[in-house]
Amino acid sequence: MNTLERAEAAEHALSEELDRLVIMKSAIYTSGERDPRAPMTRPSGEGKTFLMGHDPRLPLMPEKPTLFDFFKLRFAPANHLLQSARLAQKNGLDEKLILACLLHDIGILGFIRADHGYWAAQLVEPYVDPEVSWAIRYHQALRFYADESVGYKYPELYTKLFGPEYRPEPHIERAYKTACAHKWYMTARLLTVNDLYAFDPNVTVELEDFTDIVGRNFRQPAEGLGFDDSPSAHMWRTINWPTRYL
Ligand SMILES: [Fe+2]
Ligand SMILES: [Fe+2]
Repeated sequence: MNTLERAEAAEHALSEELDRLVIMKSAIYTSGERDPRAPMTRPSGEGKTFLMGHDPRLPLMPEKPTLFDFFKLRFAPANHLLQSARLAQKNGLDEKLILACLLHDIGILGFIRADHGYWAAQLVEPYVDPEVSWAIRYHQALRFYADESVGYKYPELYTKLFGPEYRPEPHIERAYKTACAHKWYMTARLLTVNDLYAFDPNVTVELEDFTDIVGRNFRQPAEGLGFDDSPSAHMWRTINWPTRYL
């Protein structure tokens, strides 16, 4: 078989497999596009089985997936994270902060955008130093507040995205005040300082550049992320198998 024939055979096998499966979307995926109160219609599934594992439309994850497997197979191109981590490294920040920069937006890239700082913090909490997950959680709020002492201004991008009238909601304001009074404030603040959208197009950063830092600071579970029974294992499993019926 030549390359084209192999590609065609693979496509054929995939479409046959999809014909045998019922794959449904979770309510959260479509809420807004449809009224989540409307009754869910379950396809009849006559002669088919409901998907209970890997979605054949996605790249298959290894049995014991690592953090980098998630970066490569489930997260959108992570340039923003790589560039932020690189900047933190260039600025001479310690490894905890470099790791926090590398992980801070995985909520957006691979899970749920709303409240992304909280989701990302929860995902990584069992595997990192508490200061790292704390900084990731609070970058969500601190991004909206300037701190001239470190040259952090309200992002121009936010004015563009949310309009000049936007003011953070009371829960964000509360989180900001909590963060300001905390001993780790500067860790989260330095995360926001290195959380930049102005990239250097001449620099390519590879995930592998951070292999050692991740190795020393992220407690990769031997069973693989999602299969270690940690408090966030189910969240990693959902990213791995996002369309499982149950
Ligand atoms: Fe963020
Ligand atoms: Fe970011």
